[in-house]
Amino acid sequence: MTTPPGRPADRPAAVIGGIGASLPPRVVTNQQVIEHGALDTSTDWITSRTGIHRRRLAGPDVGTGDLATAAARAAIDSAGPAGPRPDLLLLATTTPDRPCPATAPEVAHRLGLGPVPAFDLAAVCSGFLYALTTAAALLRSGTCQAPLVVAAEKYSAIIDPLDRDTAPLFGDAAAAVLLRRGDAAEPGALLETDWGSDGAGSDLIAIAGGGARLPATVGLRREEQYFRMRGRPVYAHAVRRMAASATAVLGATGWQPGDVRAFIGHQANQRILDAVADRLGIPPRHRFGNIREVGNTAGASVPLALADAAARGVRPPGAPTLLTAFGGGLTWASATLLWPDAPVRTAPPEPRPHTLDHKEVGTP
Ligand code: ACO
Repeated sequence: MTTPPGRPADRPAAVIGGIGASLPPRVVTNQQVIEHGALDTSTDWITSRTGIHRRRLAGPDVGTGDLATAAARAAIDSAGPAGPRPDLLLLATTTPDRPCPATAPEVAHRLGLGPVPAFDLAAVCSGFLYALTTAAALLRSGTCQAPLVVAAEKYSAIIDPLDRDTAPLFGDAAAAVLLRRGDAAEPGALLETDWGSDGAGSDLIAIAGGGARLPATVGLRREEQYFRMRGRPVYAHAVRRMAASATAVLGATGWQPGDVRAFIGHQANQRILDAVADRLGIPPRHRFGNIREVGNTAGASVPLALADAAARGVRPPGAPTLLTAFGGGLTWASATLLWPDAPVRTAPPEPRPHTLDHKEVGTP
């Protein structure tokens, strides 16, 4: 479903005014992943089939909220002292720090944002673009003025190190953008979005246990405790859905594929990214990503790749940009925007204080 098109002048635009990212410092190579799980695979297989060479993994003392807080604070810093104060926090994650409550309110508290609305959104690897679409709609409606969109994942907490189908693929990270009201012609303006889902494929990417259907208390089998993915059918869905969604959002924007100067897709697999871009007809010189260095960071993948490319200054502000993602659910989403003009800030994860300041609870 593509959001209703509207001429830029018809409505306020959501503009990216700040970009932040956070990566755990520990670099883990493919060889280390293989040795850790005694996996029946090879570094050659992993690099040639996925494009992944290494990833960053967080230690046991770092949670998703710690990554999210660091990336979100970096996005606020990126917007500078004249930037807006966030008045809503949306956290895209499928690795929340606990099933209940959501991680977002604690992140907002740690950022000192006061009593702003804060909630988690779970759309797996499409999470950031789902959250961006939601935040932009809330901004355009006047519900908020400066939503902070954070995507943070600690997949190392849900991946089975003994599973060769998934252990080599994932990494931990967070990235965030701070939106503000602006003009659809200025750098960073979000133009159109497209999103969708197909729950018929909900078993293709899943953690079977730990929820209401199969609670953790029943004593789960190993394959029910961890994230599992049926790679081959997911691959086919990913290529088809991202290409279709990207085509839809380009059409809504009034762009041809040849107009796109920056294409960033979900960093799941370099072959999938190439297949989608080839189908669309976007040449390699306009494709950007960092899968080689960070692997698949799920919901954080698209904003992390955007932050990486923006920090390297690969495109001038205002360049026509296409983002697309696909993930569990099944879900997919795409967006067109003008390349942002915000200095990217990065920060290491912020370890959670041992005890939050409960004295503040309930005080105005
Ligand atoms: N090492 C060696 N062999 C392997 C490995 C491995 N790590 N993994 C699978 N194989 C084997 C398979 O068993 C299979 O063997 P067979 O031919 O004897 O049956 C063979 O390699 C080919 O298997 P495929 O699954 O077809 O391998 P493929 O080339 O598709 O690569 C991969 C697997 C990397 C998982 C790929 O399918 C993929 O990237 N899938 C999609 C990932 C994705 O887009 N995810 C979406 C978002 S993720 C999220 O939402 C959290």
